[in-house]
Amino acid sequence: MELTTTTAIVTGGASGIGAASARALAAEGATVVVADLNAELGEALAAEIGGVFMGLDVTDTDQITTVVEETAKIAPLRALVNSAGIANAIRTIGRDGLLDSAFPLDKFAKVVQVNLIGTFDMIRQAATVMSRNEPDENGGRGAIVNMASVAAFDGQIGQAAYSASKGGIVGLTLPLARDLSGAGIRVNTIAPGLIDTPIYNHFPDPEAFKAQLGAGVLFPKRLGRPDELASMVVELITNDYMNAETIRVDAGIRLPPK
Ligand code: NAI
Repeated sequence: MELTTTTAIVTGGASGIGAASARALAAEGATVVVADLNAELGEALAAEIGGVFMGLDVTDTDQITTVVEETAKIAPLRALVNSAGIANAIRTIGRDGLLDSAFPLDKFAKVVQVNLIGTFDMIRQAATVMSRNEPDENGGRGAIVNMASVAAFDGQIGQAAYSASKGGIVGLTLPLARDLSGAGIRVNTIAPGLIDTPIYNHFPDPEAFKAQLGAGVLFPKRLGRPDELASMVVELITNDYMNAETIRVDAGIRLPPK
């Protein structure tokens, strides 16, 4: 798929993998809409890449409507990257036998709301707008890439909510690709391994945590760089024969229990 006359929405585009994807799609010629909660970083990135920042909380369905409709007014919307995501690490039960110490249900729901339901709401609305596009020479009207995680397959202790949300994205990929095939829209998912981004800043002592995680990587023995994920995003958006697939980009890591 050719991107030079199109818009591309990147949710979570202000930081980490989303920001690297926004830069890479802009380098391919797309007008990128950086859609994120973080206006300060998002506006700076949009200015850097000649794109547009739009404030977005992916749990707000009306905000999604505004973003997809406003984007399509700039140029046909043909690409969506769902990179907005949050993580937490909470064990399912406490050590003291008290029900109050069990995983707080609102924290479980929040992760599912942002990562899974937010991703699906973006897809159902963006794909509706894409379905109005003129088909290209292959009959294509758009391409979508989601960010799951290797935790969808080998979630660690404390990752019940995160793994459930990301496993849900993996599960959505084939039925969505089937649903959208008639409209000429492809759907693929990436399962990143351990990528060095600000997502780990919410954990206590992020540098020690990342060093511990990186020790389990097969080869190369380090955390991944966001641009190493962005190159896969570009491939999945532009390669017309990629559809309905989930690809691990993880240097061979298989996460241990902890
Ligand atoms: P990050 O924390 O650097 O960036 C996430 C972005 O999402 C931030 O700019 C944040 O403001 C935005 N965001 C969070 N909640 C939002 C909401 N409700 N609405 C709109 N935007 C929201 O994270 P990173 O590492 O770039 O992660 C990107 C995606 O990749 C996430 O879905 C994450 O779960 C996934 N991933 C990351 C891995 C890693 O090792 N960094 C590993 C596996 C998956």
